[in-house]
Amino acid sequence: MRIIKTNLLALFILVSSAVFAQKDITIIPKPANIQVKEGVFQFSKDTKIIASNAAQKEIATALMSKFKAATGWQPEFSNKKPKSNYIEFKIDKNLNREAYQLEVTSKSIVITAKENAGLIYGLETIRQLLPTAIESKNQVANVNWTIPNVSIKDEPRFQWRGLMLDLSRHFFDKNYVIQTIDRLAMLKMNVLHLHLVDDQGWRIEIKKYPKLTEIGAWRVNQENVIWNARLTVDPNEKGTYGGFLTQEELKEIVKYAAAKNIQVIPEIEMPAHVSSAIAAYPELACFNQKIGVPSGGVWPITDIYCAGKENTFEFLQDVIDEVIAIFPSKYIHIGGDEATKTNWETCPHCQKRMQQEGLKNVHELQSYFVKRMEKYINSKGKKVIGWDEILEGGLAPDATVMSWRGTEGGIEASKQGHDVIMTPESHCYFNIYQGSQNEEPLAFGGFIPMTKVYHFDPVVDEMTPEQAKHILGAQANLWAEYIESTQESEYMIFPRLGAMAEVLWSPKEARNWNDFTTRLPSLLARFDYLGINYSKSAYLVSAASKANLDKKQIKIALKNEFPNADIRYVLDNKNLDNQAIKYTDSITIQGTTILKASLFKEDKPVGKVFTDSIQFHKAVGNKLTFKNPYHENYKADGPLGLVNIIRGSKNFHDGQWQAWLVDDMEVVIDLEKNQSIHQVTLGALENQGSGIYFPTEIKAFVSTDGKTYKEVGKIIRPFAINSNSELKDFKISFEKTNARFVKVIATNLKKSPKGESSFLFFDEILVD
Ligand code: ACM
Ligand code: ZN
Repeated sequence: MRIIKTNLLALFILVSSAVFAQKDITIIPKPANIQVKEGVFQFSKDTKIIASNAAQKEIATALMSKFKAATGWQPEFSNKKPKSNYIEFKIDKNLNREAYQLEVTSKSIVITAKENAGLIYGLETIRQLLPTAIESKNQVANVNWTIPNVSIKDEPRFQWRGLMLDLSRHFFDKNYVIQTIDRLAMLKMNVLHLHLVDDQGWRIEIKKYPKLTEIGAWRVNQENVIWNARLTVDPNEKGTYGGFLTQEELKEIVKYAAAKNIQVIPEIEMPAHVSSAIAAYPELACFNQKIGVPSGGVWPITDIYCAGKENTFEFLQDVIDEVIAIFPSKYIHIGGDEATKTNWETCPHCQKRMQQEGLKNVHELQSYFVKRMEKYINSKGKKVIGWDEILEGGLAPDATVMSWRGTEGGIEASKQGHDVIMTPESHCYFNIYQGSQNEEPLAFGGFIPMTKVYHFDPVVDEMTPEQAKHILGAQANLWAEYIESTQESEYMIFPRLGAMAEVLWSPKEARNWNDFTTRLPSLLARFDYLGINYSKSAYLVSAASKANLDKKQIKIALKNEFPNADIRYVLDNKNLDNQAIKYTDSITIQGTTILKASLFKEDKPVGKVFTDSIQFHKAVGNKLTFKNPYHENYKADGPLGLVNIIRGSKNFHDGQWQAWLVDDMEVVIDLEKNQSIHQVTLGALENQGSGIYFPTEIKAFVSTDGKTYKEVGKIIRPFAINSNSELKDFKISFEKTNARFVKVIATNLKKSPKGESSFLFFDEILVD
């Protein structure tokens, strides 16, 4: 935190001296080299900016307008250097392209760089040296607009520091893209990859093929259904949900980004992920098949461009011509991922092509496709990027590989002497959950907390120095299947992008999670001023439970992502106040209770409270006999998984769930002796996108001898669309009865509306 001493005398702020230490510098990404000196530079309305050309003036305007908004005044340009109180740009051609040096003294600020890129980053660093209130859109009072005297020598570790936005699965307009560019610049990121084409929407105006956006940009609205459960649409039904960017809008985006040293990379998918194009122009597909723009998930992707027809290549070359006229980037991304080539196996055009070209299989045919497009794109003076599938069947001679299925594709491509951008889904896919699924909006399964992003490294240990040279950098990818609004998009991107920025900019040796966490609050305060809906998941307490059924107890461990976090908890649903117990070691629970926990700051809970309701019951640890065995991929923690007290979460891979595919679930619980019972509760999960459905009927029976059973209740629950993932306890209550055996039968939906086999998922059967 800044230590600022301010003396308020009468109505005037008289003294504005400040003392800074290294720890007060909270810049993210951390500069490569920074020395803090005594004294400060004081900004005032008399501060001058000495810019020597229009481009420098444009660069400086971003910071000036921040002052204008937050203070009402701004530093002004001047052609003449005053004695003191000025910012000066200097050019040093010996520096690297994105490097900058920043000398702040009480007299002046000098930013030295080879070119504008470095000057932009010098100014972004000044911005983060300023009090967070510089981000305010309204005037703020009583802020001391000083920055510490520092000497900074800084430059990025990697030249490719990117973010991918998927505009296809949900459309995001020009304004949001521009906003995102500002945020990338703040974090010294320099690539915005726009995923403009996919099955569920074509998002770029192509003048020669107007149906791409007249038809391909619009889908039938099934937004009330979870992505992968959406039904196949009738090609004759008109799409109403979607949108696209015009060429003018895209040019505006490109220009805006360039002024912030960000290049915009267009991705035009081929040969798969193009249902939207085939919906517009069926002749691009092997069998001229008429399809509608899919409203949701498509798997496997078999409606792909025909690799045999010449008209496919004419079309794609025309499209690329228009794309190149919009995007000045050196690279054009041509996708290449996830093509299921079954149509190619039987299509006469594709078969003829394979014969003529001497191609042994459809992988080689895809390689032919990519190589041919690469040749065309190279002829226009551009390079291609493709997802790592372009390695299959032989890599195009000059292609750069974006490694997403882990880092293996990147390792192989670099071995072959190709450039690589690392985007392994294990660390770089920001569409994946960043916190406990129970607390998060619906997202892709998996877990990529901020810590994991922070510990990512684009250079893999096993790479030789020669291979490492081919690693251009990395990027975060935000696939938008579940991202329906700009707020959700921001939530998934931030603050994880701050962690990614540091991975890509700062020297590897400088990376330190504990240190990062001390700088993070300042960045978050800036995000607050900017109105960014960033996630606070890293602060939220999460629990890991372990059962000891012999002792009839469970142990719960609590944590969040911060080292030495002050986590406190209470039991029995008490208030989480200053009486709360400081968490040090796992908590032993021996009976029904409600646990609440939170991160504390200055003796007060901050952020969302974690709550766990723990219910002990009469069946805990008792023998279960199933009529149909549970699925081998979902065994919970074995035969007693449904009576182990520990409840499953919305993460159905959490090891607490047992599942039945198509089969009904029928189980007998032996309570070992006759006892009085009055309720049976079945804990279930529904996640229709993953093929998991609540039972359509549940029946409970009791018996004293295990032979003759009496039905004590049932629940009938017909299928209903569920747009979320949901945990539900189905309770069957009945008159107090003496029984030793309890039987539960839950009926499987068996077939989903989409025609797929359905799962039942259960985590606990509670008998009371
Ligand atoms: C990808 O995630 N299919 C590149
Ligand atoms: Zn074909």
